[in-house]
Amino acid sequence: MTEPPCTIKLLVCGGGNGAHTLTGLASSRAKVEVNVMSLFADEAERWKKTLGDDYFTVHFTEKDGSITQIKSKPNLITNDPAKAIPGCNLIIFTVPAFAHGGYFEALAPYIEENAVVVGMPSQPGFQFQCVDLLGERGKKCAIVSFESLPWACRIMTFAREVKVLGAKDTLSAAIIMRKCTPQFEILPTIQYLLGPEPNLTQANNYLAINLLADANVHPPIMYGTWKDWNQEAMAEKPLFYQGLDEFCADMLSKVSYELMDTAKAIEKECPSFDMSDVIHLHDWYKLNYKDSISDDSTLLSCMKSNKAYNGLVHPMKETADGKFVPDFKYRYLAEDMPFGFIVFRGIAELAGVKTPAMDETIYWCQKIMEKEFLVDGKLVGKDMKITRAPQRYHFKSIQDLVNLQ
Ligand code: NAI
Repeated sequence: MTEPPCTIKLLVCGGGNGAHTLTGLASSRAKVEVNVMSLFADEAERWKKTLGDDYFTVHFTEKDGSITQIKSKPNLITNDPAKAIPGCNLIIFTVPAFAHGGYFEALAPYIEENAVVVGMPSQPGFQFQCVDLLGERGKKCAIVSFESLPWACRIMTFAREVKVLGAKDTLSAAIIMRKCTPQFEILPTIQYLLGPEPNLTQANNYLAINLLADANVHPPIMYGTWKDWNQEAMAEKPLFYQGLDEFCADMLSKVSYELMDTAKAIEKECPSFDMSDVIHLHDWYKLNYKDSISDDSTLLSCMKSNKAYNGLVHPMKETADGKFVPDFKYRYLAEDMPFGFIVFRGIAELAGVKTPAMDETIYWCQKIMEKEFLVDGKLVGKDMKITRAPQRYHFKSIQDLVNLQ
C-alpha cells in the first residue's frame, strides 16, 4: 500500500459502527485528514465532547484471532456541512441507506469538482439518488459503490472505541467516473485508508454491484424465520445467520438465481455490459469469507460455520418479563426492503425477468411492515416513493440504466 500522491481530505458521513471504524483507521494513515460529519440529532456534538483530546481506538480482530489496537484522532467532528465539506476530495458514506438522502442534500451546495463520492456500502439505488440529489456541482464527481461494509464491526464505547469483529477477504466496488478527474487513483487510495484487508477489487459496473448487495440476504431470512411464528415471546434471541434453516437457505438460493437471471437478461440486451460479477450467494460466501468459513459445502453450511457471524442474533425487542419478540422495525426490513429488495425487483422488472421467490418474500415483508410496494405482481404500491427503485427515478428500460454514466 503506497501513500497517495496528494493529501487526502476525507469526509466520513455518519456516526455509527462503520463510521467509527473508518474514522479510526483512516485517521491513523499519513497524508490523510479526516472530517467526520454526522447530521443525526446531537451525535456529532456528543462524539466531539466525549472524545475530547483523547485518542480513538480501533480493536481490529486479525485473521488469526489476535487483536491489533489502532489509535488515532480525526481532524474535525461536526454537524455543519459548511465546515465539514469544503476542500474534501474523498467523501465516504458509512451510514444506513435511509439516511443517504439527507447527506446528499447537505453535500449539494458545497461539494467540489472532482470529489469522489463513495457508498460504503452503497446499498442498491445509491447511484440513482446521487445523480438526482447532487445537482450541478455533483456532475463532475465520481460515484463509487461498494457492495458491502468492509468489516463486521460494533461500537464498544461510543466516540471512543470500536471493535472490528472480522474483515472481509475481498470487497468489490463499481466506479462511475462521470466527468471527474481526481488527483489520486480511487481504489488504491481507499485501500490505503482501510489497510490490507479486505482486498478491494473493481466490479465491472454499478448494476452488478446493485444486484450483489448484502440486502439480498436479510429479508428472505426474516421471512423464513418468522413466517410461522406463533406470537410467543422467546427466552433467548435466535442466531441470525448461524441459526439458519433449510427453508431460509433454499429461499436465499432461489432469490440468488433470480438475481443471476436478471444479470443475464441485462447482458443479453446490452452485451457490452459485463454482468459476470453477479454470482450465486454460495459462491459469493466462498469468495468473500473463505478464511472465516469452516464448512463451505453448501450455502447453509457457509452461513452456519462463518465465524465472522459468531454471536450475531435476530433483531429482537425485550418484553416486560425479560423475554424477546422479533423487532420487525429493524433495518433488515425497514432499510433492506426500500433500499434493497425493491430495487432488485425494479431492475428485474425492467429486464423482464420473473421473480417468484422475491415476490413471495416481498408480499410477506410488506405486510409485516404495513407498507405497499408490490400489487398484483407490479411495483405500483403507494409506498414506492420511499424506495430507490429505478422506476422512481423515471428509468424506463435497461438501456436507460446502462446509459447512466
Ligand atoms: P449503524 O446502525 O451503526 O448506523 C447508525 C447511525 O446511523 C447513527 O449513528 C447515525 O449516524 C445514523 N442514523 C441513525 N438514525 C438516523 C436518523 N433517524 N437520521 C439520520 N441518521 C441516522 O450502521 P453501521 O453498522 O455503521 O452500518 C452502516 C451500513 O453498513 C448499514 O447499511 C449496514 O446495514 C451496513 N453493514 C453493517 C455491518 C456492521 O457490521 N456494522 C456489516 C455489513 C453491512
